Order: sequence, then C-alpha cells, then structure tokens
Amino acid sequence: MKHLLSLYDLTVNDIEQILDLAVHLKADNRAGRAHHILKGKSLGMIFAKSSTRTRVSFEVGMYQLGGQALYLNSNDIQLGRGESIYDTANVLSRFLDGIMIRTYSQQDVEDLAKYGSISIINGLTDLLHPCQILADFQTIYEHKGRLKGKNVCYVGDGNNISNSLLYGCTKLGMNISVATPEGYECDAFVTERALDTAKSTGSKVILTQDPKEAIKNADVVITDTWVSMGQEEEKQERIKIFKDYTVTEELFNMADSEAIFMHCLPAYREYEVASEVIDGPRSVIFDEAENRLHVQKAVMALTMGD
Ligand code: CP
Ligand code: NVA
Repeated sequence: MKHLLSLYDLTVNDIEQILDLAVHLKADNRAGRAHHILKGKSLGMIFAKSSTRTRVSFEVGMYQLGGQALYLNSNDIQLGRGESIYDTANVLSRFLDGIMIRTYSQQDVEDLAKYGSISIINGLTDLLHPCQILADFQTIYEHKGRLKGKNVCYVGDGNNISNSLLYGCTKLGMNISVATPEGYECDAFVTERALDTAKSTGSKVILTQDPKEAIKNADVVITDTWVSMGQEEEKQERIKIFKDYTVTEELFNMADSEAIFMHCLPAYREYEVASEVIDGPRSVIFDEAENRLHVQKAVMALTMGD
C-alpha cells in the first residue's frame, strides 16, 4: 500500500491489515508501549479546509510514531497562489516522506499521487473521506465484534461520508442502506462502482428517500452535517430540504434495539441529529473520534514505513 486516496483502491486484505494494526496500536498506546516506526520521517499536512480531528490526530499520531508533522495551510504555501499540483508534488517529494491533504477536488489528491514519489493520504475531499470511514470500521468492530454482515444505515446528505461508506461497506461485505432527499443522493459514479462491488461480496445495498425504510434492522446508524465545508451559502435552503432527515429518538428507536449511533463530527444538534440520540447511551461518537488517531497511525505506518 503506497497511498490512501480512496477505499475503492484498497483490497479487503489492505483494509483488514490497517484495522488489525490499528487495534494493536491502540492497545499498545493504552499500555504505554511506544512504536517509533516512522523515526526520522516527515509528513506534510496540507489543509485547504478547516479541521480539528484530522489535524490533531495526524500530528499527534506522527509524533507517537517517532516522526514529525508539518501543518501547511494551503493559503500560506504557494499552492494557494496558483503553483501547480505537478510542481508542488515534485518539490515536496524532495523534502517529505508523505503528504496528508484535505482539499476540495479529489482529482488534486490523485494528481499529487501521480506526479509525486511519496505517499499521499486523503484527509477529506468533496467526494471522499476514507480515513474517517476506516475509524468508523474500527469503532463498529469494537462495539459489534465483527464487520461482515452488519447492517449500516446512513441518513442525510449524500456526501463524502456516505460515498466512502458505500465504497467501504460493499468492499467488506457489510450491508448498507442510505436515505437521502431527492437531488442529494450519493455520487452517481461512486454508487455505480459500489453496486458492482456488492455483487461479488454479497453486500445488500438499499438506496431510498425514506429514513424509516433505511433504518429498519440497522446495527449502526450514521449521519453527518447537512452543510459540508464549501456549501455554507446553501445553508438555509438545505435546512428546509433536510428537515425530515433528522435522526430523532423516534427514528433511532426503529433501528435494532442495540444499535449504536455514529457521527464523524463536527455535529449540529437538533439539525441532523437530536441531542437525545447523539448524547444518549448508545452514541459512540468519542470512541469514533479517538479511533482516527489509531487507524491513521496504522495507515501511516503501512504507507510510509520501511
Ligand atoms: N471528522 C473530521 O474529519 O473532523 P475534522 O473536520 O475536525 O478534521
Ligand atoms: N461532510 C463533512 C465532513 C466533515 C468532517 C464536510 O465535508 O464538511
């Protein structure tokens, strides 16, 4: 594994290796056992959008692995003034061992990997958020004991989270049902590829506009903000369109009685999710956030390690 651009590019074996290592790194971290697997290595972290979890977990993760992380706000580097991805990739490849990038266009991330010679990790684009979904899988594994055959339900906006869930769940043989309003479905190309993967892994995929239909028998209920970064101007319109897509207590109670609730955060209470649900006993949002650290350490070790 050289890069993490999209879960679609990974094999089942790659994903299992990442999750296995993440579980070990988490246990060792708890026990105070350090692994300086990336001693002497440097990770550049390019951010064209805000971040709390991604920035802190990558920086701390790199430190815990014995390496160094550099925060590069895209407005402060020449990329923000129009220097090309081609030149940026080539130059940074001479200094760094890896780049984590959070930006708008998935193509920019793919191009960094194409033109550079170092590991590239996708820290969120408009299309995908693979690191988040790997952390989600570690969390589901911890709470449910297995992944294959589990029923995952996503209610809300068809966005980077739901797109990556479609890729990841179908790859691992998990069942996924997605409820989105008309016109806000998951990306069409991602959906087509995920449905194709599902044919060989046996995943059941349900795509509907009805949250009640999607949530039936769910072991895991996931939602995300209705207004992703870059969509701020659509906020008022979106609030109206998504009003029937809140994960209320009533809706959550239609899932399996032991279902867990997950959200990548940041969350907007009383919009995409009711406080009673996200702050309730079956919400695992902080385990989910913590697992960003462990799973990304595994990703960095496997992509950047010797
Ligand atoms: N979930 C997530 O990626 O959070 P940040 O935007 O804070 O990095
Ligand atoms: N869909 C959200 C995820 C934030 C981590 C966004 O892109 O803003």
